[in-house]
Amino acid sequence: MLVAAALAGAVLVAPTAAQAGQSAPVWQDTSRPAADRAAALVKAMTRDEKLRYVHGLFPPMTKPAPADMIPSAGYIPGVPRLGIPTLRESDASLGVANQVEQRKGDVATALPSSLATAATFDPDLAYRGGAMIGAEARAKTFNVLLAGGVNLTRDAWGGRDFEYLGEDPLLAGVMVGAHIRGVQSNHIVSTIKHYALNAQETDRMLADSRIDRAALEDSDLRAFHIGIDAGEPGSVMCGYNLVNGDWDCENKYLLTTVLRDQWDYPGWVMSDWGGVHSTDKAALAGLDQESGQELDKQIYFGKPLAEAIAAGRVPEARLDQMVTRILTGVIASGLYDHPTPATAQPIDYDAHAAVAQQVAEQGIVLLKNADGVLPLAKTARKIVLIGGHADVGVLSGGGSSQVRSVGGVPVEIPLKSGPAASFARITWHDSSPLDAIRALAPGAEVTYVSGDDPVAAAAAARNADVAIVFATQWRTEAEDIQTLALPDNQDRLIDAVAGANPHSVVVLETGGPALMPWLDRVPAVVEAWYPGQRGGQALARLLFGEVDFAGRLPMTFPASEAQLPRPHPVTPAGGAGPDSASNAGAGDTSALRPFPVDYHEGANVGYRWYAGQGEKPLFPFGYGLTYTRFNYSDAHFTGGAQPSATVTVRNDGDRAGVALPQLYAAAGDAPARLVGWQRVKLASHTSKSVTVTLDPRAIAAWRDGKWVLPGGAYRLTLGTDAVTSIASETVTLPQHVTEKARR
Ligand code: BGC
Repeated sequence: MLVAAALAGAVLVAPTAAQAGQSAPVWQDTSRPAADRAAALVKAMTRDEKLRYVHGLFPPMTKPAPADMIPSAGYIPGVPRLGIPTLRESDASLGVANQVEQRKGDVATALPSSLATAATFDPDLAYRGGAMIGAEARAKTFNVLLAGGVNLTRDAWGGRDFEYLGEDPLLAGVMVGAHIRGVQSNHIVSTIKHYALNAQETDRMLADSRIDRAALEDSDLRAFHIGIDAGEPGSVMCGYNLVNGDWDCENKYLLTTVLRDQWDYPGWVMSDWGGVHSTDKAALAGLDQESGQELDKQIYFGKPLAEAIAAGRVPEARLDQMVTRILTGVIASGLYDHPTPATAQPIDYDAHAAVAQQVAEQGIVLLKNADGVLPLAKTARKIVLIGGHADVGVLSGGGSSQVRSVGGVPVEIPLKSGPAASFARITWHDSSPLDAIRALAPGAEVTYVSGDDPVAAAAAARNADVAIVFATQWRTEAEDIQTLALPDNQDRLIDAVAGANPHSVVVLETGGPALMPWLDRVPAVVEAWYPGQRGGQALARLLFGEVDFAGRLPMTFPASEAQLPRPHPVTPAGGAGPDSASNAGAGDTSALRPFPVDYHEGANVGYRWYAGQGEKPLFPFGYGLTYTRFNYSDAHFTGGAQPSATVTVRNDGDRAGVALPQLYAAAGDAPARLVGWQRVKLASHTSKSVTVTLDPRAIAAWRDGKWVLPGGAYRLTLGTDAVTSIASETVTLPQHVTEKARR
């Protein structure tokens, strides 16, 4: 129905040559490769038309606004005579964003944070989430989604970690690729971002990420490469930061040596908003399009680019290449042949909410469950919910990804200061855990107390059969959190409640790890991430066991900040800079100097860092409990060209559940890394033989257009998380070469 509606509203394009009785121009020949069609279009464009397509407007600052511009992240007018679409760009990964409600009353479906998607370890769900957002974007007339955030979690305190897919390159790459494919299944473009090593928010406009090149290729770039390989995004967004001394958006090594010469990427590179610092250098390094031009010091790809071409400093052919790459992405995604509707189309929000709920139900992680506290008994007579505004909703993360979700905003707290103040508010989605729990326990008296007063909360807990504390930790783009300790005295609150009622459950709504000094005193802990617009309903169903917990941590939870490679965000000498150092909209940064952030851990990100340091985390990567018990037997490993591990998984419990055997591989002394996993749903008291195959992309080197896995001895470990082994064996693998899977 949606498709029909969208086509009905399609923009009329110029009559085809065939209709006009001539032979069709190459760009209309859908049997031709996208790049050939794009090149033919570029030949038909005037110099001015080309120059206009390589820099984009930032609608909040565009005056006067073109008639068909709607407030969002970006707008680039098309060339109607050639059917070249106006690019209408929106954020992004968690839903069609509407930061600080720039479009009054425009709602969209909000997925849980990407960490929840990653925690499902289920690429099909990542695809469905992307397909859902893409459908809404298209129906709202957007055709470029600034989605696909895949920066690896190097720092547990990262302000934007909730928008990304965790710390492992294979998991993050596979999941982002599936998400992007889902977005683009709607014939719109998705980006992958922020390329690369945009790993901290503090002073992100000036952070010079220092890292050994081989280590970078083996970690963050591996995630991007897998994501591009699997998702084929039309565009790559370069980040704000510098890498080894060059800004991402004028970094020839990143934009040309790696992306083009090594990976053969055909689409276009767009800048992050306010991330361009030059004309000649950026153009020659491989930047194809300047985004949000009003946020840069000048419109580098406007008049200055025309002058640089006229003066011969930038070859004319480079302009043609920029536009060819943009149009290649536009054509390959299907956008050129399926223009977006001219006016907004109806959206099936109920069907989309079900996707959001399913991601939450599959991605929320059960961290602790002692004494069978969970699932909650439907016979409980008195249940008290404490804190986190759990009477009205669930928390979301802040920044450009902020969705104003379908049900509205029950709580919204403006920021008084800080780099995010101009574009982020602390926002709850309308998905009340209180209402959802009441609906599932109609015979119980379910009440709520705010948690502001630990003494009152303890009194309420003492008087109940079960107490559930909803603890929150808000994170936002443009700011890192300064400590992993829960803010606002919530540790004290949890202590007080746990002391008053032995049947206490802590539900964490966080954008990453939190410290849990009270862990020994609380029988059950649930990591709900930011659970999206159906988070309340999903949590209620999980807590009562209507669905089983299936999520596994996509990042390590540290026992203390001292375990981290960098215990706190790195700042320039003398402390963090002005707001403009973290927020492109907050002013000019050209007088400020970049400062180094040393990624000394190299490719040993996340669990590999802990393994290398001999540190025991609080909860390891890949960890998550279920309501049932799995038993693993008869594990054996196969070497050769298709290395794998096979194991019999038996569900010994009385409930169905999802097992997630994970395969790790290590060569030499290097810490092991995830090379494969299988998600297995098993009914109670059934068993199944499961094979987990090694994905060479996780460890192979990329050489001359092929993944080359060096031959030699590898220690393969089958585990239930990064530190818990089922079985392990050293196998000898021959050198193995894998052709690129797609394209
Ligand atoms: C963010 C990008 C986003 C862009 C447009 C920037 O501040 O870093 O992720 O896509 O704004 O909103």
